[in-house]
Amino acid sequence: MRVLVTGRGGQLATGLEASLPARGIEGVFVGQPEFEFDEPETVRAAFAAAAPEAVVNCAAWTAVDAAEENEAAAFRANALGPALLAALCAERGVPLLQISTDYVYDGRKGAPYVETDAPNPLGAYGRTKLAGEWAALAGNPMTAVLRTAWVYAPMGRNFLRTMLALGAERPELRVVADQIGHPTAAPDLADAIAALLARLHETGWRAEYRGVFHAVAQGHVSWHGFAEAIFAAAAPYGGPRPVVHPIATHEYPVKAVRPADGRMETGKLAAVFGVALPPWQEGLARVMKALHGAA
Ligand SMILES: NC(=O)c1ccc[n+]([C@@H]2O[C@H](COP(=O)([O-])OP(=O)(O)OC[C@H]3O[C@@H](n4cnc5c(N)ncnc54)[C@H](OP(=O)(O)O)[C@@H]3O)[C@@H](O)[C@H]2O)c1
Repeated sequence: MRVLVTGRGGQLATGLEASLPARGIEGVFVGQPEFEFDEPETVRAAFAAAAPEAVVNCAAWTAVDAAEENEAAAFRANALGPALLAALCAERGVPLLQISTDYVYDGRKGAPYVETDAPNPLGAYGRTKLAGEWAALAGNPMTAVLRTAWVYAPMGRNFLRTMLALGAERPELRVVADQIGHPTAAPDLADAIAALLARLHETGWRAEYRGVFHAVAQGHVSWHGFAEAIFAAAAPYGGPRPVVHPIATHEYPVKAVRPADGRMETGKLAAVFGVALPPWQEGLARVMKALHGAA
């Protein structure tokens, strides 16, 4: 099976470079500058050259705060990009896996979200990603949207690497304790996507594959709890051990409002595709090991 993966060099696409071969799937990885949503011709050319049997769209504008001030550009990448990919997939009759986010929810449910709950994004990033979900579903009947959350990897821009860098500089840190979610290791998400593609290849497309799925690590934690777990996991490798003070969201002002409670049920992914991600603590151990060259 040949799969076009967009967003080469990003956290998830990098994870897929390792996960796809293990399932016997050939990945064709495309990224900027030769694959640029702002230049639709490059997208068409990359698609035609790859002649894919499925597409995983990992490319996105992921700078959540910057999206507040540049929603038009975020919309081009997060909504118009998936719209074009969906049209190309529909023309060729191949499935599209569109990666989305917990930030499509407002976090006010007070219980884990299920896929049928109404989205209500609080910021520009979530709005543009939700538009991308709709565009992907509207443009190609064979579309599965995977909503993930709090993605981190041994490389790239993410909370784990930020914490380790700050922790090495300062003896004390202040981290938000009243936002909870599912820290999801990119290598675990990549393994889950590879398993899903393998299932798809085996069964062919089925009507039940169309729609929205939650794809996050098991278990939830606050950013503060995650930070403490990061330093505990880094300690055996000689990592920093700063004191991490819990603070409230309003004490750490940022441009974009985030959902306070982004918990999501993942039973649908397990029921339909037979795929589940491991507990977030296992993902953390895996990424920490990889970060220290011990993978
Ligand atoms: N990171 C998270 O915490 C998180 C949480 C929930 C959902 N997600 C979703 O998960 C998916 C993968 O995220 P990730 O963490 O792997 O993101 P990432 O590391 O930021 O990678 C995103 C990739 O998209 C590319 N890209 C950005 N704008 C583009 C454009 N206009 N045209 C073509 N490519 C463009 C980037 O290229 P450059 O590096 O060259 O800019 C990069 O390769 C995304 O759909 C994201 O929305 C992420």
